[in-house]
Amino acid sequence: MAPHSLLDGHDDGPTSNGLPENGLGVQPARQAFNAFSNNKSHLKKTPAEDVHDLVCVGFGPASLAVAVALHDSINSGKLHNANTGSTPKVLFLEKQPKFAWHAGMLLPGAKMQISFIKDMASLRDPTSQFTFLNYLHKNGRLVEFTNLNTFLPSRVEYEDYLRWCASFFEDVVRYNSEVVSVSPAKESDANGSVSAFTVTSKDPKTGELTTYRSKNVLLAIGGQPSIPKSLPSNHPRVIHSSQYAHLVPQILNNQSSPYRVAVIGAGQSAAEIFNNIQVLYPNSRTSLIMRSEFLKPSDDSPLSAEERYSLLEGARSTNYGVVRLELIERLYEKMYDQRRELGSDETKWPHRIMGGTDVVGFDSKGDQLRLTVRPLTSARTAVGDVMQEDEVLEVDLVIAATGYQRQSHLRMIEDVAHLLPEASEPNGAIPSSGFGRKFSEAKINDRPVRVSRNYSVQFSPGKVAPGSGIWLQGCCEGTHGVSPFNRRRIFSHH
Ligand SMILES: Cc1cc2nc3c(=O)[nH]c(=O)nc-3n(C[C@H](O)[C@H](O)[C@H](O)COP(=O)(O)OP(=O)(O)OC[C@H]3O[C@@H](n4cnc5c(N)ncnc54)[C@H](O)[C@@H]3O)c2cc1C
Ligand SMILES: NC(=O)c1ccc[n+]([C@@H]2O[C@H](COP(=O)([O-])OP(=O)(O)OC[C@H]3O[C@@H](n4cnc5c(N)ncnc54)[C@H](OP(=O)(O)O)[C@@H]3O)[C@@H](O)[C@H]2O)c1
Repeated sequence: MAPHSLLDGHDDGPTSNGLPENGLGVQPARQAFNAFSNNKSHLKKTPAEDVHDLVCVGFGPASLAVAVALHDSINSGKLHNANTGSTPKVLFLEKQPKFAWHAGMLLPGAKMQISFIKDMASLRDPTSQFTFLNYLHKNGRLVEFTNLNTFLPSRVEYEDYLRWCASFFEDVVRYNSEVVSVSPAKESDANGSVSAFTVTSKDPKTGELTTYRSKNVLLAIGGQPSIPKSLPSNHPRVIHSSQYAHLVPQILNNQSSPYRVAVIGAGQSAAEIFNNIQVLYPNSRTSLIMRSEFLKPSDDSPLSAEERYSLLEGARSTNYGVVRLELIERLYEKMYDQRRELGSDETKWPHRIMGGTDVVGFDSKGDQLRLTVRPLTSARTAVGDVMQEDEVLEVDLVIAATGYQRQSHLRMIEDVAHLLPEASEPNGAIPSSGFGRKFSEAKINDRPVRVSRNYSVQFSPGKVAPGSGIWLQGCCEGTHGVSPFNRRRIFSHH
């Protein structure tokens, strides 16, 4: 992503302000030292009423990578106006009360799924202060981490690294700010083209609305929990995997109780939760209900995600509905032990993996839940005698580890619909598919939301001024591949 307006009016290049070519000369290096000694980045607070250069919606790894890249660019003199001393006017709006990275899934022992080298900085600039290795160094663990002989830190440690990076940007992040809409502001250029957008955010606690104006808006809001239609969306004992660590200890508050828990899904979240419940509640009975017949191992082969995208169906096996091989092996061993100890009738096992099964019904009486599950591929289904194949599971808790949807940015930008091209208007850009393996063109009011190679939303010619725009990160998988969605390549895109 290269929001040009951030460069407009600034010296473009390290030599223009007298700094050495490598951008790591005396002055920036001293700035970097100062930045690290006072725990502040080079991005400075902008008065709320000013027109910003960039407002980023969401402050997860994608936006954090942008923040780090901007800091590094200022540090190297590329984004620093030597005459005025000014830096880009940037703001990050985050709905959570503080920085947290999928905190509801921070389970003991959970490892990262990518090498730490794909951190917030290393692949773009290994000399950045914001590398994972520098984090280890600053926290006195570099040697000890090296002795672990791994590229995969724990998720807990990696979240701490991300929080450490985020702490440098406190001046330019507003937490408790949930963005509800992005609309055209009244600013326009000489040709009448929209040159700024109004971003409206809500304080989730008080409901208070605040507006900001910005030439550029980056939507990096990640995915939103997706729960199957067969389940109620607001039952206190039906939760999504993203709430797991927050809610399960409250709902199941006696570790020795023989709780019955159903986990739905066949991805990494489902497998980790299925495993973790058994550890946390040794007397529990658990069922892993999944549409696929088997847990599929993730593909970590050393091809780039782009190369795999052309080889595999949507590169899904690099990312979705797949599980780390070690965890599959651990779960298989558990199933084997049950077979050895209890015999082959799986209904007698405390822990079952119910492959090729779908949830077709749900009802509840108080805290008692009944799930009806149906085999997907039985011969009986083929002759229509499905009811006899159904099984009713009585459980205390249902955990839907059923992934995330990535469409809510469309609702957020509804008010810019009139600036989008008509469906028939070709503009050379690529349709944005939102999320999902089934490619479908994202639309607002029947107008296609098309995204350029550089992630900018394509507006009708002349509607939006050069140097202004809306940018999408993490919701263009169908067109831009899977990498921008996860962190493995987030950084190199900025
Ligand atoms: C449990 C889990 C573990 C993962 N582990 C890995 C891994 O090891 N390696 C890997 O490559 N990928 C992993 N991923 C994939 C994950 O998508 C990326 O790691 C990464 O989080 C994507 O960053 P993001 O900033 O695009 O989205 P997110 O991390 O989802 O961040 C989006 C941010 O936007 C905020 N937000 C949302 N809506 C609004 C709004 N309306 N207003 C303001 N703020 C808003 C959210 O609160 C959040 O902080 C994992 C995903 C999960 C769920
Ligand atoms: N330790 C870690 O680093 C860690 C931990 C957890 C997650 N993650 C990452 O986070 C991302 C999301 O993982 P995830 O496991 O939460 O989601 P996911 O990979 O998208 O998997 C979702 C699962 O839910 C199933 N599902 C979806 N809708 C369903 C429905 N209506 N009924 C039944 N099943 C349904 C899917 O099955 P179908 O295939 O049948 O649709 C799939 O098995 C991935 O990138 C993953 O690698 C990482």
